[in-house]
Amino acid sequence: MRADVRTWVIDTAGKSTEEVARELLADELHLPADSLQLCKDPRGRPALCTRDGQPIADVDISLAHTGALLAIVLAHGARVGVDIEVIPPDADDEDLARTFLAPTEYAQWHAIPAAERHDVLYQFWTAKEAFQKALGLGATVDMRDIVLGMQDDRRLRLISLYAKSDLIAGWRLTQEKRTLGDRVVWLAVVEAAH
Ligand SMILES: CC(C)(COP(=O)(O)OP(=O)(O)OC[C@H]1O[C@@H](n2cnc3c(N)ncnc32)[C@H](O)[C@@H]1OP(=O)(O)O)[C@@H](O)C(=O)NCCC(=O)NCCS
Repeated sequence: MRADVRTWVIDTAGKSTEEVARELLADELHLPADSLQLCKDPRGRPALCTRDGQPIADVDISLAHTGALLAIVLAHGARVGVDIEVIPPDADDEDLARTFLAPTEYAQWHAIPAAERHDVLYQFWTAKEAFQKALGLGATVDMRDIVLGMQDDRRLRLISLYAKSDLIAGWRLTQEKRTLGDRVVWLAVVEAAH
């Protein structure tokens, strides 16, 4: 059975992450906003908790910011991770690519037309960071240990985690490029049903 996973991208307009996320998630769960708080595990992975710090059962969340934009994912029955990045103006993509792409990914990235590479680099970046968030290990996971493969249609899929292909079962990656006003963002959501 597919898990229930919902994603929002919100302009926080000066409000705090806690305020925006709490109001939205309380509304979704039909609970009073002041009965909830965001809490974190020792590595910084967020959870939705009661006022006395107990995680809400069977609910998983993930958060990401880029500028004033906040991406929120809420899941029932799944572990989730999200990332969002505004695609910046062209920079030194070669150097960046070498820092976080695994060798097989770098070869695929380099084989596509030069005009597409900048965009695809941020597609890889957001996908890998969404996996980091879902795994809960944050930046302690080397991005090159989360290995993705690019299909002919340019979609990415998970190939291996920590050099083990048997850890990849059950993960689902969804990516979308969105135009929000004058910003173009890559959004990545990963989920694994319990
Ligand atoms: C997760 C992380 C890679 C994302 O960083 P980023 O690109 O700068 O920022 P993003 O906006 O995409 O994501 C930030 C959100 O990630 C979430 N996050 C932080 N640590 C996380 C973790 N270990 N697992 C999952 N999500 C995490 C938080 O919700 C955070 O939002 P907040 O700042 O409002 O609390 C980075 O925050 C990180 O590595 N944190 C963990 C640090 C760590 O490993 N500490 C070791 C302690 S044992």
